[in-house]
Amino acid sequence: MRPLIIAANWKMNTTPADAGELAATIAARTEEPGVVRVICPPFVCLAAVRDALAGKNVAVGAQNVHHELAGAYTGEISAAMLNGLATWVIVGHSERRRDAHESDELIGKKLARAVASGLRPILCVGELLAEREAGRAVEVVAAQLRGALAGKDVDALLSAGFVIAYEPVWAIGTGRTATSADAAAMADAIRSTLSADLGWGDAAEDVPVLYGGSVTSANIGEFLAERSIDGGLVGGASLKPDEMAGMVARAAVTAKARAAAAGKPE
Ligand code: 13P
Repeated sequence: MRPLIIAANWKMNTTPADAGELAATIAARTEEPGVVRVICPPFVCLAAVRDALAGKNVAVGAQNVHHELAGAYTGEISAAMLNGLATWVIVGHSERRRDAHESDELIGKKLARAVASGLRPILCVGELLAEREAGRAVEVVAAQLRGALAGKDVDALLSAGFVIAYEPVWAIGTGRTATSADAAAMADAIRSTLSADLGWGDAAEDVPVLYGGSVTSANIGEFLAERSIDGGLVGGASLKPDEMAGMVARAAVTAKARAAAAGKPE
């Protein structure tokens, strides 16, 4: 059974002075069984958030990592620097594809570095509005997956707990979400790309696929009602403890229902 995951991407919000308190509040308000919780603050807030979350069963993630181990890369952060600060990392977020011109090939290198360094990666994929309107969404996402994942060590990715987040670019920060049916169809397409195009076979079924893009406590239920969607990667709403409490509570209901359907205790 795949885990249910609610991951908070704080993007360029919070400071070292306030991030710890926010993380601690969220941790206290989201104690629900059966849900994996992750908070990804800015790099400079990682230490404060790690300290605030000590012993609270909420993982800390970084929002990016460099593909090289060390060297002349001004302003960059290596996997070694994250050691002891973060156990998860987001790679290939559309805001980095857009602003830092990250290519699928570079994202693949970051992914490999993350896995080799013991970080659990969340690979983000998603199409632009024009691509969806042109009927090309599945093709675009499949190309992103092939570009980042071709030739990668599948066993290493799976044992690192590899996660994919489908985040349609036009749904990020816009208040407009994909329909749950479209998001579920994309999650299925993602798994069939892994399984057939990339040769992962049945292992594709073990990869959690999250939905991201204007997720809130009010709409997450629609996405979690889809069997192929395993949680959310949340931006704006993840900075609000009430919202996080609502989303994690809803995910806990789903976790319980899925465990019961599979004939397992949660
Ligand atoms: P919003 O939830 O603010 O739309 O952001 C989604 C996102 O980009 C998470 O990585």
